[in-house]
Amino acid sequence: MSNLYQIAIDGPAAAGKSTVAKLTAKRLGAFYVNTGEMYRTIAWASLKEGIDVVNAPEKVEAALKRWTMTFQNDGKGEIDIIFNGHPVVKAELRTAEVAMASSNVAKIPAVRTWMLQKQRDCRLLGTIIMEGRDICTVVLPDATAKFFITATPEERARRRFAQSGEIAPGATIQSVAAEIAERDRQDENRPIAPLKPSPDATVIFTDGMTPEQVTDKVIAVFKEKAQL
Ligand code: CDP
Repeated sequence: MSNLYQIAIDGPAAAGKSTVAKLTAKRLGAFYVNTGEMYRTIAWASLKEGIDVVNAPEKVEAALKRWTMTFQNDGKGEIDIIFNGHPVVKAELRTAEVAMASSNVAKIPAVRTWMLQKQRDCRLLGTIIMEGRDICTVVLPDATAKFFITATPEERARRRFAQSGEIAPGATIQSVAAEIAERDRQDENRPIAPLKPSPDATVIFTDGMTPEQVTDKVIAVFKEKAQL
């Protein structure tokens, strides 16, 4: 591929976006960019500083003035997030507490403004597969191909439950389902950049599909759009 392309993927929590975006990036020799990790980093840093992200959003906003976030090619097709000069330990972002706090910080207008140009600048890395909640609608409105990847709430709870690192000790499939339902409710109902399918996105409903099947579909639509 000589030109640079952008593939944009949105969808609700635990829909399998990351798995598919990673597989797609590998198969196309492109870069995988997970914007959820960027919001999770802000949540993680806020929690570390003892900021109450629900009741004191102004403290998160004030902290943005002293925080820095840059991205670095990790040499393996993904990006490292460099937060305040240090690479973020991604495993520390995958806790239930950080997940819920990420949805709360993602509602703060100043956080979204702070993030937008940094995310758009990821286009400079090369051909990218970027996933999140507002990539098709806000971040990359001119993306080559756009997707909304989803699954039933039951299937998504099962998938998240199977990712052992991500769930709180003692969690049940019901409590995991409730957590992702609450996060989706918040993500869909916030006034700025809410989670919703872009009218020009291909919707892929993934119940009963393997990650490879979803990836095949993404690549087929992308090739058609890019006329490759
Ligand atoms: O991995 P999972 O689908 O559970 O979530 P994630 O993609 O890591 O995103 C964590 C949270 O960040 C979401 O619940 C959203 O509130 C927020 N987010 C967002 O607002 N906009 C994005 N482009 C990506 C994530």
